[in-house]
Amino acid sequence: MTQDYARAVSLLKAGELVAFPTETVYGLGADAANPEAVARIFAAKGRPADHPLIVHLPGVAHLDQWALNIPAAAWQLAEAFWPGPLTLILKRAPAVPYAVTGGQETVGLRVPAHPVALELLRAYAQAGGGRGGLCGIAGPSANRFGRISPTDAAHVHEELGEAVALVLDGGPCQVGIESTIIDLSRGNDLPPRLLRPGHITPEQIAAVIGVLPELPAAGQDGSTPRVAGSLDAHYAPLTPMRLVATARLAEVLAGLKADGKCCGLLAHTLQKGLVPTHSLRQLPDQPEGYARGLYAALRELDLAGNDVIVVEAIPSADGWAAVADRLCRAACGSGTA
Ligand code: TXA
Ligand code: MG
Repeated sequence: MTQDYARAVSLLKAGELVAFPTETVYGLGADAANPEAVARIFAAKGRPADHPLIVHLPGVAHLDQWALNIPAAAWQLAEAFWPGPLTLILKRAPAVPYAVTGGQETVGLRVPAHPVALELLRAYAQAGGGRGGLCGIAGPSANRFGRISPTDAAHVHEELGEAVALVLDGGPCQVGIESTIIDLSRGNDLPPRLLRPGHITPEQIAAVIGVLPELPAAGQDGSTPRVAGSLDAHYAPLTPMRLVATARLAEVLAGLKADGKCCGLLAHTLQKGLVPTHSLRQLPDQPEGYARGLYAALRELDLAGNDVIVVEAIPSADGWAAVADRLCRAACGSGTA
């Protein structure tokens, strides 16, 4: 075990917070079986205590310590996608503290694919971490509540500063947006439900379990999926952010410029001759590359002193659903310093 892992393990055992990289975003970790440690996560993030946390497990062998009545579909999905960016919502085992489930009877579980996260989880298990047979690390995204998720160790320092005892640096995250969440806690009579779109798509899930998960109700524009019961405003920059169709970019930027506004532009198609008044970030014109760079680009545009961040609207094609969800929420929560 290297020095960093050894230190991380002893901090976690002592109920302290350790941030760690995953393939999706950085997580703010605490021993998930220790309610006092979990309380520290809520305090550091400024997150309401009724918001459940995802528990990261060292491997699929730990699943039935944390969950009850696990349906066959959950085992199939775990087998197919773990380690990976898929969170399963299942009935919690009686020993799982309510602190981590936000008072609910269900628990969110995943095995992350990042080598640093896996090494940490395995080291924690080997060192006897956890309580009462439960070993897992609770880990919400390591940002202040409602803000942009960190995809780099430096972002975690920016977000949480001294509140976190140690940040394990695993470089930039490969996926860049949070895991797909699927609810399998409703028993065998009801279909699984997609709670948050992500890198793993409903079609990939259907290919494994033979049923397409129930999708969240369409948003106000009729196209954007929403997470039932969750807050609309999330992943948001402090600078007001607007989504603008490609065809209207020139006109909107010219109008803002005429009003003396400093504008940042986040584009994914080449914008010839189109110059924002301040800063331009260009992301790839395909969903995986776009997702990978999205939060870092938003963070930079947020810190660049813009009055407005103009985001070129993305295609409404299927592969873009997870990115569309994040952009919609970011625009909704933006500008609320
Ligand atoms: O990719 C990810 O999932 C990242 C990395 C760090 O693993 N984590 C993450 O955690 O995004 P967080 O806390 O920022 O988002 C977790 C989401 C929340 O919207 C929460 O409501 C939902 O998961 N969630 C967790 N447990 C749940 C449960 N028992 N029932 C319903 N939703 C749950
Ligand atoms: Mg989050």
